[in-house]
Amino acid sequence: MKILHTSFECYPIAKVGGLADVVGALPRYQNELENQSSVIMPYHDNSFTQQHNFKVIYKGKLTLGSLVYEFSVRQLTSKDLGFDLYTIHTGRLLDRQNVYGYKDDTERFIVFQKAVLDWLQNIEEKPDIIHCHDHHTGLIPFLMTHGEPYESLRSIPTILTIHNAQYQGQISYDKLHYLPSFDKNKIGLLDWSGCINPLASAIKCAWKVTTVSPSYMKELQVRANGLENLLSQEKNKSVGILNGIDAEHWNPKTDSMLVKNYSFNNLITGRKANKKWLCEEYELDINRPLFAFIGRLVGEKGADILPEIITETINNTNACVFMLGSGDPAVEKQLEELKKQFQGRYNAHIGYDEELSHKIYAGADFLLMPSRVEPCGLNQMYALRYGTVPVVRRVGGLKDTVVDIGDNGFGICHDQVLVWDVCYSIKRAINLYNDQEHYKKIQKKIMKIDHSWNRSAQEYVDLYNSLIQLK
Ligand code: ADP
Ligand code: GLC
Repeated sequence: MKILHTSFECYPIAKVGGLADVVGALPRYQNELENQSSVIMPYHDNSFTQQHNFKVIYKGKLTLGSLVYEFSVRQLTSKDLGFDLYTIHTGRLLDRQNVYGYKDDTERFIVFQKAVLDWLQNIEEKPDIIHCHDHHTGLIPFLMTHGEPYESLRSIPTILTIHNAQYQGQISYDKLHYLPSFDKNKIGLLDWSGCINPLASAIKCAWKVTTVSPSYMKELQVRANGLENLLSQEKNKSVGILNGIDAEHWNPKTDSMLVKNYSFNNLITGRKANKKWLCEEYELDINRPLFAFIGRLVGEKGADILPEIITETINNTNACVFMLGSGDPAVEKQLEELKKQFQGRYNAHIGYDEELSHKIYAGADFLLMPSRVEPCGLNQMYALRYGTVPVVRRVGGLKDTVVDIGDNGFGICHDQVLVWDVCYSIKRAINLYNDQEHYKKIQKKIMKIDHSWNRSAQEYVDLYNSLIQLK
């Protein structure tokens, strides 16, 4: 089966968060199941694209209002990713260093989608399935069905995966003329709450909708940033499929970003070497339990309560805390300021650092995830694979992947996004740490859990097959 994933992010080309990890791994696992799965994304102008060769396989032209954009489809020549990677190159618009965050992001998303569709319309060997990820590619299902220029794409099934329903990519109607011509009787399929809403449109028009965990699917019926009713309405064509992880890339035995590699058999010495590096680099006391947080510093991740959690933990326990993240400037500032106050017990790296994140998964004793919203969460699965015990709020994918030690599980869970609840979990974690025999048993248990994409990649393929049969 020929599957094409459309996404704005894909690891290792360009990553902002878990979307990139998913799109960079799922196609490879699908190919191991004898499919031809590939990815199309923008040609971002970053170190990856600068250091790799691409060949032009298609050239096209499109308009955006009165502006004309020439674009090309450039295919990565190396086969190392385990799937074919196609990129849309347009000068001035897509070839920027960052993935998002520009004033003209709306225009960038629309141009990308129009270019993808133009290319697909004009190639002979079309994919059997188009898999769209998040709102950036959310207009594709509508345009494939009702866009006048894309007649030849009508019968190809589309899937939307919602990685995060908070972000919907709303576009005001004064930009309607940016879209290709379409059957105006169908304009309602673009609309939600008085504007063009690409995520809502994809929920309406895709043949199937998936979320990245079963619990998130249920939660969205109640809280989906305004899309609750729509998601309830489309419940019958929706399913939650738990994300997997790239177990080859995220493997403590071979991970080249670690100070020392380890496996199940030498996890104590291996993890100690990584913790030693972290503690020396960031002036933390290696003899104390180390709690870490890795992630975007936003409300969804519970970042606003982190400063208080740090203060409480340092004042009332013997633990050390380390933070890696960037986001809300106010939280970044608070996390920076606490460094002076708690030198030796707390430190933070404000920014994005892929290599450091790997060392933390391998060196911290516990990973904190006090998320308000967590559609799936990959961090807890990386932590499990590296033998770091997750301390999580029971929400979304965290609920589906972490079982509390009190329930014969392997993690520490709480229900509320409250400083008190998190701190209570931290105390329970410290009790576990103090019982080294139990703690080591749990570490061995978590490293054995298989969260690789094997199972879910098959679930997606089964879903695609069910749609192809409907054609
Ligand atoms: P989300 O996509 O909501 O940010 P996920 O848990 O799905 O959350 O994935 C986050 C991914 O981004 C993980 O690979 C995590 O290690 C990585 N990550 C997040 N913040 C940082 C950071 N500051 N530095 C390095 N890696 C980070
Ligand atoms: C989103 C979600 C995160 C999920 C990731 C990959 O960014 O916030 O929970 O793990 O997508 O699906």
